[in-house]
Amino acid sequence: MSEKKTPRPEASGIIGGATTSVALFQDRSVDLSVDLAGVVLKNPVVVASGTFGFGREYGQFFDLSELGGICCKGLTLHPREGNPPPRIAETPLGMLNSVGLQNPGVDAFIRDELPFLRQHDVTVIANISGNTPEEYGVMCEKLSEAGVDMIEVNISCPNVKAGGLAYGTRPDLAAEVTQKAKKRATVPVMVKLSPNVTDITEIARAAADGGADALSLINTLRGMRIDVNSRRPILKMNTGGLSGPAVLPVAVRMVWEVANAVKLPIIGMGGVSTGEDAAQFLLAGASAVAVGTALFADPFAPLKVRDELAAIAARQGLSAVRELTGGVQPW
Ligand SMILES: Cc1cc2nc3c(=O)[nH]c(=O)nc-3n(C[C@H](O)[C@H](O)[C@H](O)COP(=O)(O)O)c2cc1C
Repeated sequence: MSEKKTPRPEASGIIGGATTSVALFQDRSVDLSVDLAGVVLKNPVVVASGTFGFGREYGQFFDLSELGGICCKGLTLHPREGNPPPRIAETPLGMLNSVGLQNPGVDAFIRDELPFLRQHDVTVIANISGNTPEEYGVMCEKLSEAGVDMIEVNISCPNVKAGGLAYGTRPDLAAEVTQKAKKRATVPVMVKLSPNVTDITEIARAAADGGADALSLINTLRGMRIDVNSRRPILKMNTGGLSGPAVLPVAVRMVWEVANAVKLPIIGMGGVSTGEDAAQFLLAGASAVAVGTALFADPFAPLKVRDELAAIAARQGLSAVRELTGGVQPW
């Protein structure tokens, strides 16, 4: 198949003094749209929760409508300050964070942030964390009524004491939270799984049994760094969540396992920074991917991933990028 490339304007920006630029080419011969539990994304690249805020800052770099979707910063029923600093540390090929769900609360999001997001032609996915299963239900009702397109139920935050990871490591609790969310949501519910478990398919099945419409994975892996001179952990919370390219093979393996265990659409994430990374997730069984940590080095990363993915699909003679999903041929 010949590659019909439509040149688009050069986008560029300055981050931390370094000039970043990306030439935006999109291969128009490939259909990039994907269906995620009835929600159609215009392309399979979304931005990962907690790495894109509510889009305002990145909106200064590019038109948010270019994205397949925006997973918003994790919301809680009431505002949260997050954890004390330091709460970010670099690691080989990644980073640790212990931000701890700093957010303005669900009502402020609906009042102050959703109208801004709605000015763009982009799928809006709200990400929520509750202290109790009931809180997930309350937030689902508020957000559905407010008109988000989809809700991502976070049962996998390693950086908060209440809820968070506890729900993501016990199948019974994962099922209960999913049921409570589904009961009051009128938009599709996607459950975000934790990699901090022995068998991720157990939790995936529990979420599916609880009525989940889709799954996303992975959240961050619990990690730690220590300053050898002070003998103190670098993060004030002692431990944090590892993300970035270091986790990519773990995440691809988990997506593959989950895709073989349940029949739900999946957003795969963990270390995606190139089109080839994204293609691996799709081949493993994901319908879409999320880009997170890569944004901190290059705000245009999701657009680069999208365009490289389109080029890979075109090179392989595919007419739609969704044809990659589940295409891995295991030995
Ligand atoms: C600074 C930071 C904050 C995050 N906050 C959230 C959050 O609020 N809710 C959530 O579900 N995941 C959160 N995550 C996890 C990401 O959405 C994603 O699952 C993870 O970082 C793996 O993708 P990546 O390697 O591309 O970053 C956060 C990650 C980072 C790095």
